Amino acid sequence: MDLHLKDKVVIVTGGSSGIGEAITRLLAVEGAIPVIASRNTDRNETLLAELKSKNQNAFAFAGELSDAFFCERIVSETLARFGRIDALVNNAGRNDGVGLANGNPASFAQSVIENLGHYYYLAHFALPSLKEAKGSIVNISSKVAMTGQGGTSGYAAAKAAQLGLTREWAAELLPFGIRVNAILPAEVMTPLYESWINTFEKPSEKLASIVSKIPLEQRMTTSAEIASATVFLLSAQASHITGQWWVIDGGYVHLDRALT
Ligand SMILES: NC(=O)c1ccc[n+]([C@@H]2O[C@H](COP(=O)([O-])OP(=O)(O)OC[C@H]3O[C@@H](n4cnc5c(N)ncnc54)[C@H](O)[C@@H]3O)[C@@H](O)[C@H]2O)c1
Repeated sequence: MDLHLKDKVVIVTGGSSGIGEAITRLLAVEGAIPVIASRNTDRNETLLAELKSKNQNAFAFAGELSDAFFCERIVSETLARFGRIDALVNNAGRNDGVGLANGNPASFAQSVIENLGHYYYLAHFALPSLKEAKGSIVNISSKVAMTGQGGTSGYAAAKAAQLGLTREWAAELLPFGIRVNAILPAEVMTPLYESWINTFEKPSEKLASIVSKIPLEQRMTTSAEIASATVFLLSAQASHITGQWWVIDGGYVHLDRALT
């Protein structure tokens, strides 16, 4: 299947680690030009060097996405360099454990803005280009938006809001042929996940207990599997899919508990 992504310019936030890295790599394999935006300077540089050594085109911006000016600069400098923006993958986020009991109004507001603000900022600044390109947006949310987790109010609120914005933007952008969809991962081993699982007293036992409850093959979803779904949604092959929430999780959220 030809995804028709050759030379398409795609901004991927958090695009040098975990799920974002897998999306960047797959876009590069498909001949697209991934533009990474992440604070993770070292990983940005390492990944860029690797892609360049394979003659794959890519670029990276290093900075803090909760800064709206940084987001504006990502868009203006991407346009200056490549002349177009075809798609946006809003992916960067952090399950920061700001809960009802251990948080406070200031830490809650901070967590929501850090996890949610840049999804809006980048879509806002990239909009004129996305209109020109009849582009596409994928918002990476989380199963936490549907199931809750406990102890993470800010993150849960931001992840649920991303689903709301997916429907809202899909509606607002219908006249421009811009498609907007969301992906909800559940259990994917990434640097973020590893640091979360290590907050438990017995991380390997906790992990084994989670994995045993994943209906399909009792294993975690891979970053590559999240990337496949994301890149398909970005592509012209998904030309009549908009406003959708895709839960990519081996049946973890929706299948009958009795199956595991
Ligand atoms: N890993 C999972 O199991 C899982 C499950 C559900 C949802 N998700 C979502 O998937 C997305 C990616 O998660 P991951 O597990 O790949 O994480 P990760 O930490 O491995 O990668 C995210 C990258 O984004 C960067 N980043 C995060 N916030 C940033 C900010 N405000 N400014 C600049 N850079 C920032 C981080 O430094 C990191 O390099 C997140 O939105 C997360 O909520 C992940």
